[in-house]
Formats: sequence, C-alpha cells, structure tokens
Amino acid sequence: MKILILNGPNLNMTGIRNKSVYGSETLEDINSELREYGESKGAEMFFYQSNHEGAIIDIIQESMNKFDGVVINAGAYTHYSYAIRDAIEAVRDYTPFVEVHLSDIHSREGFRANSVITEVCVKQISGLGKNSYKKGIDLLLEIL
Ligand code: DQA
Repeated sequence: MKILILNGPNLNMTGIRNKSVYGSETLEDINSELREYGESKGAEMFFYQSNHEGAIIDIIQESMNKFDGVVINAGAYTHYSYAIRDAIEAVRDYTPFVEVHLSDIHSREGFRANSVITEVCVKQISGLGKNSYKKGIDLLLEIL
C-alpha cells in the first residue's frame, strides 16, 4: 500500500510560523513520525510538499499511477483552489484522497471554514495537529 502525504503552501514553515496554532514540530519531524506510523501498519510512505499550485496539481494527477491513496493538506489552497479540486476529482476514482488540517479550520477566521476540496475527498479531518495525518492514514488503510 503506497500512501502519499501531500502538503501545500507554507506547510514547510511548520514549527516556525504561528506555533500556537500549528505547533513547534517541523514538517520534517512530523513526516518522520508519519513514516514510522505508516510503516508500522505495513504501508509504504511517500512525502511531497510544494508552495506552487501547478506542482501540486501535477503530483495529484500522477498519483493515480503512483500511489494507492493520498493524505492532503492543501494549506490555504483548500479554501479557494478550484484547480486543485478538479485535479482531485479527476483521479479520485483511482486514488482516494483524505483532506487534513493541523488546526481546526472551523474555529478560526471565517474564510478558513470553507473548503472547496472536501466534496471530492473521502473525509475532512481537522484540528488534531499531526494526528490529523495519522487518522488520514488509518482511514486510507481501512478503505483500501
Ligand atoms: C491549514 C489551515 C489553512 O487554513 C492554512 O492556510 C494552512 C494550514 C492547517 O493545516 O491547519 O496553511 O491547512
């Protein structure tokens, strides 16, 4: 089972920006824990982060041939990128996506409460810090 952890813009600043919201661990710290977590459950783990919408769309499209499932934190693109939404919609019959967020997007600024990708993802998991990703991995392993 090949699982991709896909992070969008500014997630590379995790551990540096807004620590009270996103925590003090770096994305590298989180990813190495997720690698161990996924591998302990028999999954092969892959990681990708980009600040660029087009690069994220490219890997979403490629994911149908490369991965069995994807855990995506699209960062702020979550709230307005119809292009990312359409890319997920195009491949989701081949590779399911779970939407995750470190913070609780429903208890912050109003614009964060709306996600344009939820509809094309299996589920949205938000507000559990790095455990949002772990729950995403669990869900993929359940349904795959
Ligand atoms: C985020 C929430 C988004 O609103 C924000 O733009 C991010 C991170 C989260 O993980 O909580 O960059 O997706």
